[in-house]
Amino acid sequence: MKHLIAPSLLAADFANLQRDIEMVNSSEADWFHVDVMDGVFVPNISFGFPVMEAIKKHATKPLDVHLMIVNPDQYIERFAAAGAAVITVHYEACTHLHRTIQAIHAAGCKAGVAINPHTPVALLKEVLADLDLVLVMSVNPGFGGQKFIPNTLHKLRELKALSATINPELIIEVDGGVDIHNLADLIQAGANAFVAGNAIFAATAPKEMISELKNLNAGILKV
Ligand code: DX5
Ligand code: ZN
Repeated sequence: MKHLIAPSLLAADFANLQRDIEMVNSSEADWFHVDVMDGVFVPNISFGFPVMEAIKKHATKPLDVHLMIVNPDQYIERFAAAGAAVITVHYEACTHLHRTIQAIHAAGCKAGVAINPHTPVALLKEVLADLDLVLVMSVNPGFGGQKFIPNTLHKLRELKALSATINPELIIEVDGGVDIHNLADLIQAGANAFVAGNAIFAATAPKEMISELKNLNAGILKV
């Protein structure tokens, strides 16, 4: 399967959100990545339901919702109703993670768990079979435009090995500082879905950048 590209709307122009959404609609991107921040779990506030509903109104591709919030259980049904296709919660924000994953499925969405840079992949072992997606954070969550943390590569390899036996269908997504320069290494390390904010929206030709990211063939670099 070709890898998935999920442009992060956090880097879009919020005063021209419809225009940027339509650009993504007409591009080779697979998903819209929607970053929800509460100012508690992360030191930043992004947007909530009214904006997400506005995104849903124009988006013709699935919404990949990344919840950087405490107590996500409280809001799962509302995010599902607002149009989420994938709901990803943070491992570090969930005391009863297994229950949260079940609630996401019960709401009719794909379930993802995100891990911060300091969180070991091995902590997901007991829930891996229940997950559709793991989001490996390659920056500390809260802001777009940060520098990729290279230690992420070994976490991806570890996750790929772990999922090969437990859940071979698992989507392994990377988020933070992803660009055309590190994408091949990330694909080779086992990731198959890529969030990109600044790499796309700060590019001179965003739609062409999406196409480049989508069609990069890491296979030719494999040893
Ligand atoms: C960071 C968010 C990311 C962010 C990525 O906390 O989860 O999705 O928008 O932005 P870039 O690709 O610019 O690092
Ligand atoms: Zn994100």
